[in-house]
Amino acid sequence: MVETDFKVLADTLVEQGYIIVSDFIDADLTEQLYQHVTALPASMFNTAKVGRQQTAQQLETVRNDRTVWLSNAYPVEQAYLDTMDTLRTQLNRQLFLGLRDFEAHFAHYPPGHFYQRHIDAFKGQSNRVVSSVFYLNSDWSGQDEGQLILYQPDGETRLQTVLPRFGTLVLFLSEQFPHEVLPALRDRYSIAGWFRTDGIL
Ligand code: OGA
Ligand code: MN
Repeated sequence: MVETDFKVLADTLVEQGYIIVSDFIDADLTEQLYQHVTALPASMFNTAKVGRQQTAQQLETVRNDRTVWLSNAYPVEQAYLDTMDTLRTQLNRQLFLGLRDFEAHFAHYPPGHFYQRHIDAFKGQSNRVVSSVFYLNSDWSGQDEGQLILYQPDGETRLQTVLPRFGTLVLFLSEQFPHEVLPALRDRYSIAGWFRTDGIL
C-alpha cells in the first residue's frame, strides 16, 4: 500500500469512523507474519485478559484468545510495526489525532474460541484512539465462521460483518464501535493493535 492509499484510508476513517481494507500490505509480508506466528512456541502466548481498569462493562466481556505482543526483536514483526508507524504519521497529518505510538499483539483463537461484544476504550479511561485488526488466514470462507461483527455506536445494530481473511485490515475509532469475534471452526490468527495518545484524554 502506497502513501496515496494511506491518505484515502485516513479520509474514510474520519468520515465513517471505520474502514475495511483488503490486501493492506504486501502478500509476502502477510505470509511471513502467518508463518512466524504459527511457529512461535505455545509457551509464549498469554491467555488474554480484560483491561486493567475493570469497569463493570469490561468485566462482562469474555474472551479466550491467546496473545503475544509484537516487538522489534524479530524483523518480520518490526516490518509490520514500521508499516503501522507510517500509517500513524499519515493519520496525524490528516486528522490531527496526536497519535504517539502503536502497540499490537498477535491473537490466536483456537476453534470455538471467541471474544464477546466489547469496546476497546472507554472515554476518559484509556489512551487508545484507533483500533486495528489485521488478518492472516488464507482461504477463509463464510463456512469457517469466526467473523468480526462491528456494531453501530448504539451497541445494538450490526454495522459490518468481516471475515478474518488473509490481508484484510479493519480500523475503527476505539471508543465508538462495539465489536465481537464469533467462534470459528478453524484456528484463527490476527494482529490486534492500537494507536495511542500520550496521556489519558
Ligand atoms: C481485540 C479484538 C478482533 C479480531 O483484540 O480487541 O477485538 O477480529 N479483536 O481479532
Ligand atoms: Mn477489540
